[in-house]
Amino acid sequence: MQFDFTFQNYTKIYFGKTALSNLKDELKKYGNTIMLAYGKGSIKKIGLYDELIKIFKEAGKNVVEFSGIMPNPTAAKVREGINLVRENNVDFILAVGGGSTIDCVKAVSMGSANDVDFWEHFYMNYNIPEKKIPFGTLLTMVGTGSEMNGGSVVTNEDVKIKTGVVYPNMMPDFSILNPEYTYSLSKFQMVSGICDMMSHIMEQYFSVSDEDNVSDDLSEALMKNIIRNAYICVENPQDYNARSNIMWDATLALNTLIACSKKGDWEVHNIEHQISAFYDVTHGMGLAAISPSYYRFIMDYGLSKFKKFAINVFNVNPEGKTDKEIGLEGIDKLEEFFKNIGATTKLSELGVTNPEELDKIAETCYVSQGAYKVLTADDIKVILRNSL
Ligand code: NZQ
Ligand code: ZN
Repeated sequence: MQFDFTFQNYTKIYFGKTALSNLKDELKKYGNTIMLAYGKGSIKKIGLYDELIKIFKEAGKNVVEFSGIMPNPTAAKVREGINLVRENNVDFILAVGGGSTIDCVKAVSMGSANDVDFWEHFYMNYNIPEKKIPFGTLLTMVGTGSEMNGGSVVTNEDVKIKTGVVYPNMMPDFSILNPEYTYSLSKFQMVSGICDMMSHIMEQYFSVSDEDNVSDDLSEALMKNIIRNAYICVENPQDYNARSNIMWDATLALNTLIACSKKGDWEVHNIEHQISAFYDVTHGMGLAAISPSYYRFIMDYGLSKFKKFAINVFNVNPEGKTDKEIGLEGIDKLEEFFKNIGATTKLSELGVTNPEELDKIAETCYVSQGAYKVLTADDIKVILRNSL
């Protein structure tokens, strides 16, 4: 492990079919007023809402509801949540849903506990939150890893910026992961989540250190597990074993474990986030559309890793081929995998078409310093056009 690192992850995970039975005991640790945060209604359709209300009642808790959290949660929605917490003296928040609900709850937690403007203080100026309202999660959409990390991504529609922050003290206190709650996801959302977790791993894998290291080997194992189980999930969405593998893959992909001793790239995410600020695209699908052209663009700057990826993850036969041919075949296989599971691999299919807007996206995009090639705005314009 070439670079020094600190590793700490305190989120307690309850995983499996009986995971929810631990909620009542967890709730005993907190005060009386619980905020139940959720999205636009899927938790009601799958019966989870009624089950939770029953558990809250049995635990003798007052419930404040914070509903309607949208995909790509907005700063305005976060402010609504902050007001609710303050008006009701909320002691604990339970986020039930996917990354959007969890991220919104993290923003509400830090924003309501500290007397500052949440957007300026935490999302623009990166001040570490001094206080927080404790929160846990119940995951129903798999992909972001937000259930076991300190990341939170929020879109400020007024200034057209979607940005993420990562604060180690904003990890959930606990997360409940039952793969059965993900059965009701549409194929589109399930596949989007699979592309997202795959991208999280690649963002860390395709960056220095390139020395032999544990993180890269773990990453390769996770990617192979995702690919194998993604095909099973697409074929049979109710295959418990495959859905549970995919669920745990996603958590491990972004719980900071495989980030140890890695610089991390994150440029695919930077580009997708800025596209979402303009077009509100589904996160994982945006990543799938950008990844192949991004990796073809930077491949020469990290060729040995792309060769390793092709051979170890996608079983490319290296015989008689140059390193470049092997690397490119690996990226072709990645694109083929995305297509085979039903992901969108063209930005135009996500409604991103206006060339002038593409230029604005490129010019306002964060540029990663951890990438094999630090991009210019002109580079991003080329990548975006190649992703159309
Ligand atoms: O709102 P409801 O009705 O719940 O519907 C949701 C939503 O429409 C639906 N859904 C969730 N669970 C379901 C379900 N539908 C049926 N059955 C279920 N069991 O799925 C839709 C998408 O949910 P969302 O939370 O938006 O998806 P995801 O988990 O992909 O989260 C995306 C957000 O997370 C950010 C993304 O940028 C995006 O804003 N990210 C957060 C990260 C983090 N915190 O570490 C890292 C990621 O890279 C990512 O940037
Ligand atoms: Zn992501």
